[in-house]
Amino acid sequence: MNPPWPRTAVLHAEPPSQRLLALGGLGVEDLAERFGTPLYLLDRAELVGRMRAYRQVFGPQVDVVYAAKALCVAGVLQLATAEGLAIDVASAGELATAIRAEVPPERIVFHGNNKSVEELVAAAEYGVGRFVADSFVELERLSELGTVLDRDLTVLVRITPGIQADTHRSISTGQDDSKFGFSLSAGLAHEAVARALKLPGVELLGVHCHIGSQVFALEAFERAASLLAGLLGDVRDRHGVVLAELNLGGGPGIAYTDRERELPLERYAETLGAAVQAACDARGLPLPRLAVEPGRSIVGPAGVTLYTVGTVKKIPGVRTYLSVDGGMSDNPRPALYDARYTFAAAGRPPGDPSPETRTVAVAGKHCESGDLLARDVTLPADLAEGDLLAVAATGAYTFALASNYNRLPRPPVVLVGDGQAQVLVRRETLDEILARDVPLS
Ligand SMILES: Cc1ncc(COP(=O)(O)O)c(C=O)c1O
Repeated sequence: MNPPWPRTAVLHAEPPSQRLLALGGLGVEDLAERFGTPLYLLDRAELVGRMRAYRQVFGPQVDVVYAAKALCVAGVLQLATAEGLAIDVASAGELATAIRAEVPPERIVFHGNNKSVEELVAAAEYGVGRFVADSFVELERLSELGTVLDRDLTVLVRITPGIQADTHRSISTGQDDSKFGFSLSAGLAHEAVARALKLPGVELLGVHCHIGSQVFALEAFERAASLLAGLLGDVRDRHGVVLAELNLGGGPGIAYTDRERELPLERYAETLGAAVQAACDARGLPLPRLAVEPGRSIVGPAGVTLYTVGTVKKIPGVRTYLSVDGGMSDNPRPALYDARYTFAAAGRPPGDPSPETRTVAVAGKHCESGDLLARDVTLPADLAEGDLLAVAATGAYTFALASNYNRLPRPPVVLVGDGQAQVLVRRETLDEILARDVPLS
């Protein structure tokens, strides 16, 4: 295995001369020819392997909930469901995808800091298993809805534990100054629990927190788990109610480059389990049923994006720009978060000896100077117009965040494994983009 490349990646030579030859038993040149570029590939063995590892490491007493926001396409949700994962959705669109994937409604957890009434109604009618309430007005809306439907809606209250995770501020969600959840330190968490316990039409099952994404600090997860378990103790003391569920969100960091090391799943699971056990023992509380909500660490390392190099521009004494046929529309993370990736030439290896290497910027084709997939990456110097370029660990928050900027149709998502390729999302067409324009008559 060669992280950050997926487990079936066949690689030739070492970085920076490394080349990706095949994935899922299929040659990348053939894949590019068959499906075109840019192309999102998903390594089925890596994806399913990760789902299984989560289930195995956490065991049957913990619910593993796939956070669909990382990559919400029906085929992935079908695989997750088949592997025994529940699904977290955060909008009517993600819910509709789960419905299309035939996810059992009771296995769906519905998130969002501003769910519309229509979304709440759709979710309630579908019978989703958990609403994660994020505001007082949402609690009221859920109560009204449950009362009208004459059935208690099952709710978790989202808590902001006041923890600053070691990640980019845009994906850090556990600090007090956050649009998500009810702050523990400001007393809102206790108030939300008290209200939820009183409201008709609502059954409060437990509490939830999510401190952020791409987090490596086990202490941050430990502290959140401990605080939330402590909150369950406070709820018992104040209200005489033992809440049965504790959902600790997602967020474990993955390796995008050789400078990062993925958070080991076993240590993550042990840390959460031990923190909850200790806090419950200290309060004389029974252990709640735990849930975790991984997104990135399930799907991220399974993805590879293939591009074709279109132009190579050398500015003497400044920099060489290698431009590819996609960019910030299929992967906005470098522009949004200054995210770093691992790049490699792709396709048939060159003859011996390997060519020289050089440091280049990899640019997208969009009309923004900030449309850079990498500022300084070392690649074979002979990488030229028409050649393939692969990027590792692009499974999470790429297609999910993709746009039509400059009216680029979004690339397809293709699952590869055992020498078979299966299209999970077909390439968008220009006609589909234009079809929504209403020209003035
Ligand atoms: C509520 C919630 N749960 C789970 C996740 C998944 O996080 P990750 O993809 O980092 O595991 C997110 C992502 O931001 C989230 O907001």
